[in-house]
Amino acid sequence: MSESIQAIRGMPDLLPVEALRWQHIESVIAQLMHAYGYEEVRTPIIERTHLFARSVGEHTDIVEKEMYLLEDRKGDSLALRPEGTASVVRAAIASGLLRQGPQKWIYQGPMFRYERPQKGRQRQFHQFGLECFGLNGPLIEAECLQFCHDLWARLGLASAITLDINHLGNATSREAYTAALVEYLSEHISMLDADSQRRLTHNPLRILDSKHAGTRSVLDHAPKLENFLCEADQLAFQALQATLDQLGIAYTINPRLVRGLDYYTGLVFEWVSDALGAQSAVCAGGRYDGLVEQLGGDQIPAVGFAIGLERLVEITRLLEIDLAKPDQAIIILPIAGIDEAGTEALKQAQRIRDALPQLQVSVDLQGGKVTSQFKRASKAQARFALVLGEEELRTGKLTLKDLVKNDQSQYETFEQLIGAITHAS
Ligand code: HAM
Repeated sequence: MSESIQAIRGMPDLLPVEALRWQHIESVIAQLMHAYGYEEVRTPIIERTHLFARSVGEHTDIVEKEMYLLEDRKGDSLALRPEGTASVVRAAIASGLLRQGPQKWIYQGPMFRYERPQKGRQRQFHQFGLECFGLNGPLIEAECLQFCHDLWARLGLASAITLDINHLGNATSREAYTAALVEYLSEHISMLDADSQRRLTHNPLRILDSKHAGTRSVLDHAPKLENFLCEADQLAFQALQATLDQLGIAYTINPRLVRGLDYYTGLVFEWVSDALGAQSAVCAGGRYDGLVEQLGGDQIPAVGFAIGLERLVEITRLLEIDLAKPDQAIIILPIAGIDEAGTEALKQAQRIRDALPQLQVSVDLQGGKVTSQFKRASKAQARFALVLGEEELRTGKLTLKDLVKNDQSQYETFEQLIGAITHAS
């Protein structure tokens, strides 16, 4: 036997048993997208590297250390997308749709970051994201949060996920704050961890979410971002809080929440779950009013978020959330033998699929003993078995066994069979 080929580290397969959970979550997301009137956009998985350098930020961890880079045959530098917002903004500008008024878009798909794989952190992971363009003010921010809140509720996770919010202020107040923070931290530089010392020159705000004990004790007495917000930002942040109160969405103001991507301008938020352990953020986002212009478009406000689907799936698994039961299923059993009844089984399966498109119809093609065929049907959790024995082949009668009620009936016509399946409860 030749040596088996391993998958790439941090890029696990999704096997059928887990896929059920994913499909359930994806179908609830699709329902919500429709219910909120959002539209889907799909962008390529590969983009020019400088798209991410210019949006996520040259000195962020994502761009400095985590991108999967490749060169195409002309020598252009390309990157596997580490996140979706930059690509969606690029597509929104290129399409010209931003000039037609506000756009509310969602997207979904794999993202790639060369991080150290651990629980809740992969090198290929999946995001569901939502981005709204062209709307200012706290109402659209509240609608984004309402969407998430609704999703958690529909998945039965409302009590397991909590919301942290913060306001980063506009460029001027953030600059003033950053200067004050750097001045203060420079006085205590010897107590900071190595990462934070490095960030002091490149990305000082990120020091605020350091987990290092020494750094945290220095931060306890650092200047506070909220004291630097201009009046308009303070009012906008308060208005958002009032709207969330009205909508019944609970939140905690977390002054340390700064996010690891450079494009945020005002509100930032994270939905977190204690159930997840260290990688507790299941969804994150905020306002990024400067990015469209920065990437060559008009000055258009924007807000959005992305959910880490692996983490969301994991919470439903940890909390043992029941999945929606699949629709009723029927399995066709050619008990007269594969050679004798196999073709008839495929034919009957197609007739039933045509008549009842919602029903799952599969054919047992393994053959073997009648008892094994029935055992497999029960294991597959089929509600019914259509039994094709010698008598059925000879007479054309249709024998349906209800595997849940454990009773069997014979029908003369196909219409009677369909009636029986439809009316069974
Ligand atoms: P982010 O915080 O980098 O934001 O990622 C959003 C979510 O993706 C995280 O909260 C987490 O659930 C998931 N995630 C990130 N990295 C990994 C990983 N290595 N393994 C598993 N899950 C991961 C963004 O990506 C922004 N584009 C969000 C956004 C959209 N802001 C505005 N619009």
